[in-house]
Amino acid sequence: MLNTVKRLKIENNHHVRHYSQHRRRVVVTGLGLVTPLGVGVEHNWKRLIEGYCGITSIDRLVKENLPSTIGGIVRRGKEDGEFDSERWVPKDSRGLSSPFIEYAICAAQQAVDASRWKPKTEEDSDRTGVTFGSSLSSLDDILSTHDQYSKHGLRKVSPYFIPRILNNLAGGHISIIHGYRGPNHCASTACTTGAHSIGDAFRFISHGDADVMIAGGSESCITPLAVAGFSRARALATEFNENPTVASRPFDRDRRGFIMSEGAGAIMLEELHHAIDRGADIYCEVLGYGLSGDGHHVTSPPPDGRGAEKCMRAALRDANATASQVDYVNAHATSTPLGDAIENAAIMRVFHENTKLSVSSTKGATGHLLGAAGAVEAIFSILAIRHNVVPPTLNLENVDEGFNLDYTPKTAKKRQVDVSISNSFGFGD
Ligand SMILES: *[C@@H]1O[C@H](CO)[C@@H](O)[C@H](O)[C@H]1NC(C)=O
Repeated sequence: MLNTVKRLKIENNHHVRHYSQHRRRVVVTGLGLVTPLGVGVEHNWKRLIEGYCGITSIDRLVKENLPSTIGGIVRRGKEDGEFDSERWVPKDSRGLSSPFIEYAICAAQQAVDASRWKPKTEEDSDRTGVTFGSSLSSLDDILSTHDQYSKHGLRKVSPYFIPRILNNLAGGHISIIHGYRGPNHCASTACTTGAHSIGDAFRFISHGDADVMIAGGSESCITPLAVAGFSRARALATEFNENPTVASRPFDRDRRGFIMSEGAGAIMLEELHHAIDRGADIYCEVLGYGLSGDGHHVTSPPPDGRGAEKCMRAALRDANATASQVDYVNAHATSTPLGDAIENAAIMRVFHENTKLSVSSTKGATGHLLGAAGAVEAIFSILAIRHNVVPPTLNLENVDEGFNLDYTPKTAKKRQVDVSISNSFGFGD
């Protein structure tokens, strides 16, 4: 579990924080997105604010007659907002890149382009690193290779098989493509992966291991086997197969489970003075990060939501911020009956005195991107600060009983956003 907290207007705030003398400040200087809403940060934000939903019916799931036959897939093609691997993935990386790696390369390239950071010296390279994770890597590669091996033996196993399925190879390709030789690390913590990657990178920079880090998560595992597995874990909504765009409905009375999605999010993080000295466009500051484990059950959070509460409080403490300073919480809320209720209770406890708080779950529009969710949603939280707009919770028709916050139902809300929190929770965390 974890959160990140961010604040704009760092230029008015050059004093050094005293509670940790050696801690360096970290800012965001670039973003990249590949989601069911499309490719590109502006494209995604526009669609999110307009209330577009990226969930559709998926033929290969329909053919298998699975309980859930819908999901949020990244549309491939050459049109604006579509994913074109020939455009984004360098030739040398192509055969070695399964879809989760391709999406990561694309999101990272966008963040690199936006940040205009390019190492010029050996030292620049050594001070620039990568933290990029995935949760399930490439199930399609594992299954098809197993199939070939069973039928035809060793000769049909591609030498590229292992590099295509290793979780850390998304980050591996990014470091090779851009010549980053600093820390290269990979969290794989189920649906918290993207958030942990950002938090780790934030710590590496503030601790002094690196000056610049590209951080994020990516996922592409909408396969019949994964859908079967999540169905058996009773995690997916199965009642909306004929009406995909209303299936993901966080905080709604009639929410029935989450919808699997794919994509990637990447963030360029940078030490404050490093960014200022080179005149980088600074989106916001990362103020703090907190994490906790439930120590409770593999897939269910404890009913009192104490883990979620603890990590939000830890992030606020780390940020030296109070609950009343927060303007927006981007909730993890995946649209499951239990998960949303528990997170809601935790948010209500932490922010009970904050009457101006806005909350939303962008999963109504995107579905649940699993290992990429934390990164994609941190980016939406940053964009809320940048544009002073809270993105909506799609499909929130009837707020459930006992949910007493402003969940930004259906339409985006224009308001001042100086501080936001992005929540992520995962199985086993
Ligand atoms: C923490 O925040 C408080 C209130 O804004 C401020 O007075 C204090 O100086 C801050 N502490 C540090 C160490 O920055």
